[in-house]
Amino acid sequence: MSAPPIETVVVDGLALANELRAELAKRIAGHIEAGRRPPKLVVVLVGDDPASASYIKGKQRACARIGMDSAEHHLPASTSQKQLLDLIDTLNRDTGVDGILVQLPLPKGINANAVAEALDPAKDVDGLTPMNQGRLLLGEAGHRACTPLGVMEILRRNEIPLEGALAVVIGRSAIVGKPVSLLLQQANATVTMCHSRTRDLAGVCRQADIIVAAVGVPRLVQRDWVKPGAAVIDVGVSQVDGKLVGDVDTDGVCGVARIVTPHRRGVGPMTITLLLCNTLDAYEARLAG
Ligand code: GUN
Repeated sequence: MSAPPIETVVVDGLALANELRAELAKRIAGHIEAGRRPPKLVVVLVGDDPASASYIKGKQRACARIGMDSAEHHLPASTSQKQLLDLIDTLNRDTGVDGILVQLPLPKGINANAVAEALDPAKDVDGLTPMNQGRLLLGEAGHRACTPLGVMEILRRNEIPLEGALAVVIGRSAIVGKPVSLLLQQANATVTMCHSRTRDLAGVCRQADIIVAAVGVPRLVQRDWVKPGAAVIDVGVSQVDGKLVGDVDTDGVCGVARIVTPHRRGVGPMTITLLLCNTLDAYEARLAG
């Protein structure tokens, strides 16, 4: 007899995000009542990538809804690295700015690592500076990247046990794969970091209590890759025939996984929320001197 199907929870990332945003709004209202200025996030967009422009608008809307100030610097695709670094230097020095986010990807000719190195780590609410990445590696306090934080918050709020769990992370980017692997390991999971050269990826995933797919291969993770009761987190986004799809066959894993995040209203709203959270933390750290 085969095991009965599992009732999979399809995580409503927007509902979770709204819970967290309500908590952040309360914290900000407390500061305003005490006569302080609101926290401020500055977003920098270079070039005209429509997806990036849309993400930035979403971030600014989210700021406004919780009472956080935001500003946008939209620079042309022809901007030189020096011009961008000069702007970052100005923003680093501006005491009215708490968080700075430079939207990725950057146009060819601008080195994203040089940009990350130029940011003041205290204002690096994306957790991308070498200082903050190093602090994560060392287990010291610092800003962590927002998507990895969002993934951890989804696991926590769905009461997925991490201690001793086998976690498989697919993808080794500096913005998701590597930092989420470290956060899972720091929460006492045993982590396997997989990538395009991993042998028998399906077999590795079948062992996993937690799968985090962040590789950008449409519907890579299939039903028969998932152990019954596993938590499946889909971070990937790709375009197929003009439609956005994730790294997980969401419908396929329903009935096998304990939870799955859909590619829409899944991790995305949590990423934005953790950006707000990092910015508010940066503001409060400035207040505390
Ligand atoms: N582009 C896609 N995701 C992100 C992100 O989390 N941060 C930045 N800066 N750019 C991105």
